[in-house]
Amino acid sequence: MSDPLRIALAGLGTVGTGVIRLIETNRDMIAARAGRPIEIVAVTARERSKDRGVDLSRYAWVDDMQAMAARADVDVVVELVGGSDGPALTLARSALDAGKGLVTANKAMVAHHGLELAELAAIKKSPFAFEAAVAGGIPVVKGLREGTAANALNRIYGILNGTCNYVLSEMERTGADFDEMLQAAQEKGYAEADPAFDIEGVDAAHKLAILAAIGFGTRIDFDAVQTEGITQVRASDIAQADALGYVVRLVGIATLEDHGEGPRLLQRVRPCLVPFRHPLAAVTGPTNAVVAEGDFSGRLLFQGAGAGDKPTASAVVADLIEIARGQSGAPFSVPVTALQSCAAADPGDRIGRDYLRFTVADRPGVLAEITAAMRDAGVSIESMIQRSRDHDGGEVQVAMVTHEGPERCVTEALSLLEGSPSLTAAPLVMPILKD
Ligand SMILES: NC(=O)c1ccc[n+]([C@@H]2O[C@H](COP(=O)([O-])OP(=O)(O)OC[C@H]3O[C@@H](n4cnc5c(N)ncnc54)[C@H](OP(=O)(O)O)[C@@H]3O)[C@@H](O)[C@H]2O)c1
Repeated sequence: MSDPLRIALAGLGTVGTGVIRLIETNRDMIAARAGRPIEIVAVTARERSKDRGVDLSRYAWVDDMQAMAARADVDVVVELVGGSDGPALTLARSALDAGKGLVTANKAMVAHHGLELAELAAIKKSPFAFEAAVAGGIPVVKGLREGTAANALNRIYGILNGTCNYVLSEMERTGADFDEMLQAAQEKGYAEADPAFDIEGVDAAHKLAILAAIGFGTRIDFDAVQTEGITQVRASDIAQADALGYVVRLVGIATLEDHGEGPRLLQRVRPCLVPFRHPLAAVTGPTNAVVAEGDFSGRLLFQGAGAGDKPTASAVVADLIEIARGQSGAPFSVPVTALQSCAAADPGDRIGRDYLRFTVADRPGVLAEITAAMRDAGVSIESMIQRSRDHDGGEVQVAMVTHEGPERCVTEALSLLEGSPSLTAAPLVMPILKD
């Protein structure tokens, strides 16, 4: 058998220790499939004395993380520290600069600095891989890079954040409100102590930006992702969606469209109404799912665990096996210099149906005011539900679903209502996912 692929592992938390366990558990099988052994030679984390439940005695401990990149006995640096910048980015740059391969699970870093790292990797002819950065154990990066490589993709979308999906599907199951289910997610270990990145949609946006670049061959553009989280979704929205034949899911959607001015990329993360019959409606709990629609493949659904030590380690080690085989291709499907710059699409151009929820003062004429704004903006209402007034009086919730139309009309209707004393809270708009 050939020489081993020698690994330096930075970060020994959830994913790092998972990688050690996987490499130790499946050592022989991995060597057989990779064509050579994969051996960890050096490890690092912040605190050397911490009990991590894995035996580190056979690996060299490196105090200075950045020194890993300079080691002559290392072929690939595996970055499992996290954070878009800071020590993770410094390590990634210095590893590639030193001609080492780089494997990371760090979606924030790839979303913000993936192009720079891919350019560096191309110059050095070093492999750079990040399967674990999107949807944990689901091989969706390889699925898009390889499996759908012959297709023009129309749309890539999915449930990209397990915390949000757990919270929303538990709100649906129990009827409880957002705060209660977020706390349950934290107690179960699905949500961080500071869950802002998850519930505000930022984590899903990182993953969407990466998927869009791979699937469409466009330059990664995280800043262009329009992001809205799930904090405004109420149990009553979920109940109303249910009555209309939908579930609520946080969906990241990327589409590449050309309305005559050249291709435009629309990237959005938003809570959406998903029809009961759509495969994403059946995705509950912390599971992730990605749908890719190819012109020849048709609709493909990738589904599985989006996080956790074992699934994420599975994706990291899959990258290492690919590198050991000498098969790494361009990290974003096409060489980084060939990625297209693509202007962001105007969301107003989107043609679709929307769910709108208004919280209004309980007095005559309010409904007429809302429907007049809709009419004046050219929004056609398909159905409307008026909930009974709240027990403490004063407020009523009105929800409606629009007929298909341009999104700019809905935006216009909301601007006509802006500042109206009839509205006692900001309206919520959720697009209805097209089949
Ligand atoms: N957890 C998941 O399910 C999951 C899924 C997909 C992707 N990811 C990504 O994988 C990466 C790692 O996540 P994780 O959940 O394993 O994180 P984690 O449990 O917090 O582990 C982070 C590790 O990095 C070490 N570290 C932090 N700052 C350091 C520094 N300045 N110098 C040296 N070591 C440092 C920590 O050391 P100490 O242990 O000594 O504090 C710890 O071992 C992140 O980019 C994350 O987004 C995670």
